[in-house]
Amino acid sequence: MSLGSWISAFPLFQYGNELIQRGLYEVLATGTLPQHIGFIMDGNRRYAKERQVEVKEGHTSGFESLLELLDILYRIKIPMITVYAFSVENFHRPPHEVQAIMELVQRSVVQLCQLGDFADQYDVQVRILGDRSLIPPLVDAAIETAVQRTIKNKTAVLNICFAYTARLDIALSMRSIVKESKEGRFKSPITQQTIEQHMFSKGDPPVDILIRSSGAQRLSDFLLWECNDDTLIAFVDCYWPMFTGFQLFKILLRWSLLYSTKIKRKLIYSDQN
Ligand code: FPP
Repeated sequence: MSLGSWISAFPLFQYGNELIQRGLYEVLATGTLPQHIGFIMDGNRRYAKERQVEVKEGHTSGFESLLELLDILYRIKIPMITVYAFSVENFHRPPHEVQAIMELVQRSVVQLCQLGDFADQYDVQVRILGDRSLIPPLVDAAIETAVQRTIKNKTAVLNICFAYTARLDIALSMRSIVKESKEGRFKSPITQQTIEQHMFSKGDPPVDILIRSSGAQRLSDFLLWECNDDTLIAFVDCYWPMFTGFQLFKILLRWSLLYSTKIKRKLIYSDQN
C-alpha cells in the first residue's frame, strides 16, 4: 500500500476531504451551472482486472462511484444527468457478463427508485433511454415498475441509456416518423425538431458537458445528436470506479470559466496533458 492510499484510508482524512469538497461545490453552485451532463462510465473491467476480482465487481464499484457523483450533482441542483449503462454493442460481450450487467442495472434501478431512496431524496425522475425490445422481458418489467414510481418527480432527471446507441436512436426516430407519415398522422416537412421529438431524449436540453473516463478519447456512439457546438468534452485518465468528486469539480470549473467568458474554444478537456 502506498503512503498516499494509507493516509487516505483514515476516517478523519476522508471526513476532511469531504468537507473541503462540499465547500468547493457550494462556491461553484453560486455561479451558473450546466443543465445537462453525460457520463461514459468506462474502465470497469480494467479496474476489476487490476485488482484481480471478477468483472461484475468492477461494474458494481462503477455503480457505487456513480451514486457518489450523483449525490454531489443533485445536491448542487444539476437538473439532468445522462449515463451510458449498456450499449447495443455490449450485447456481444460474454453471456455471463451481459447477464451480470443486466442484473446489476435491474437491482440498481430498483434500489434508486424505492421508497425514501435516492430518487425520492432528490425528487429525481428516472428514465430509461434505449431499445426496450432488446432488454430481457423480466428485467425490463422490473425496471419499468421501479421507474414508474418516479414519474411525478420534477426537480431533476436521471437518464439511464440501456440497450442504447445514438445511431440506433436516430434510426428508430426516422422509423417512427415514416410510420406516422404512412398512417397520415404526419403532414408537415421533416425538420430537425421532428427528428428530436421522436428520439429517446425528446425535450431534453443539449448536453453541456460529456465526460468519459478510462483515458480513451472517443464518443462510442453516445449522445451524438444531443451534443452540440458548445459541449465541453472531457476525457479523464482513470478507470470509472476511481473517478472522484475532485476530478469532476475541475471539469465543472472549466465549464463555468468557459461559460462566463463565452469562449467557444478549448472545448476538449483532457487531464493527460
Ligand atoms: C464500461 O466499462 C461500463 C459498462 C459497460 C457498464 C456500466 C454500468 C454500470 C456502472 C451500472 C450502472 C447502473 C445504473 C443503474 C445506472 P467497460 O466494461 O467497458 O470497462 P473496460 O473499458 O475496462 O473494458
